[in-house]
Amino acid sequence: MARGQEDFARIGPGTLAGRFLRTFWQPIHTAADLKVGRPVRVQALGEYFTLYRGESGKVFMVQDPCPHRQTSLFLGWVVGDEIRCFYHGWQFDGTGQCTAQPAEKKSFAAKVKAQAWRVEEYLGLIFAYLGEGEPPPLPRFPEVDSVDGVRVVNAHAVPCNFFQRVENDLDELHVHFVHSVSTDSYGLDEMPEIRVKETEYGILREGIRKGGGANATRTAHWMMPNVHFVDLPPSPDNTDWTVHLAWRVPVDDENMTTFSVSLRRRDPGKPAEKEAARAPITPDPAQVTQDILSGRIRIQDVPADYRGLFVVQDNVALAGQGRITNRSRDRLGQSDVGVTLLRKLWDRELKKLKKGEPLKQWRRPQERMSLLVNAPTAMADVTG
Ligand code: FES
Ligand SMILES: [Fe+2]
Repeated sequence: MARGQEDFARIGPGTLAGRFLRTFWQPIHTAADLKVGRPVRVQALGEYFTLYRGESGKVFMVQDPCPHRQTSLFLGWVVGDEIRCFYHGWQFDGTGQCTAQPAEKKSFAAKVKAQAWRVEEYLGLIFAYLGEGEPPPLPRFPEVDSVDGVRVVNAHAVPCNFFQRVENDLDELHVHFVHSVSTDSYGLDEMPEIRVKETEYGILREGIRKGGGANATRTAHWMMPNVHFVDLPPSPDNTDWTVHLAWRVPVDDENMTTFSVSLRRRDPGKPAEKEAARAPITPDPAQVTQDILSGRIRIQDVPADYRGLFVVQDNVALAGQGRITNRSRDRLGQSDVGVTLLRKLWDRELKKLKKGEPLKQWRRPQERMSLLVNAPTAMADVTG
C-alpha cells in the first residue's frame, strides 16, 4: 500500500477492503456452467463456497465445509433443492438448515445450520451477496440486458491482485502499448488526454482525442467498487466494437476473475440471438500467460489473430507488477489521473469504514448510460 493509504489489496474476511467489497453484490460463476446435480466449489474474496443448482433449477450457495466434520459439501449429491454431504450423508436445504442425519440414532438436525448466502441469476451470471444483513437490490444494467444484440458472457482468470486489474480500467494510455498490435491495425494512434471526475456511481473517464474516426474521444464509466463499463475496440475475439461490462472479482489476495458481459452489434443479415455460444479459446489464455511470465515465449510473438490476445496482453502487464504490487514505489504522472482518483476514492471510503462513519451511497442512473463511441455504425444502436 502507498504511504498513508489504506490497504486495498487484502480482501479476506475481516479486512477493511474485504468488508467494503462485501457490501456490494459480486458475480461468482457463469450461469450456463452450473448444471443441475453438479455442485461446484467456488472461491471468492478469499473464501470457499459450495454453489449448486437444485432440481427445480434454482441456485443456492452454502458454506463449503460441512458442519459435521468439514469435508467439502461440493463433493456431495443434489437431492431436490437440497445438498447431501458425501462423507456421512447429512443433508442441508438452500437456507443451510440441516434436514437429515441418516447415521444419527437421535437426529439433532434441527439444531444444525450451515451458513448460506443470497444468490441471483442475471445477465448469464450468478451473483452472490457475501455481506452481512439484508442485501441491497441487485444492480441492473439496461445497457446490456434489454437491447437487441448478441450477448457474450465470459469469465477468465487473472493471476494478480484484483486492484491492479481495477487500476488498469482507469488507465486508457496502456491501450496504445499493451494492445498496440490491434490499435495500430485500425489507426487508433493519437494518445489521449485523460480527464476524470467523481460521479454518483464512481468515475467518469474521458480520453480526449481530436482526430475523429478511430481517434475520437472515448468515454468510460467505472462503477464502485469494481465494475467497468466501456466500449471495447475490435480484437481477435470480437471483430466489432462491443459494449463491455466487466466485474473484477477477487478470488484471493493474489488472484482474481474477470466476469464480463459484452453486447455485440447484431448483424442485420442474421436472425436475432440473445446469447452466443462460444467455443473455448485455445490455447487457454491462463497457460499462455504463464508461458510468457516464465519466459518460455514472448508476448510480442503471440499471433495477432489469437482470440485470447487482449486477455493475455493485460494479464502479463498486470502480473508483471507482481502478485500484489507495492504502490508506495509508484511514480505517478499526469496521465495517471484516473489511477490517482481511484486510489483517493477507495482510501476515503475505507477510512470512513474504519471509523464507522457512513459511506457514500453509490448509485448508477436508472436510465441507460451512454458511451461516446468512435465506431458509429457499430454502437449507435445499442448504447442509447
Ligand atoms: S462431514 Fe459431512 S456428514 Fe460428515
Ligand atoms: Fe487492456
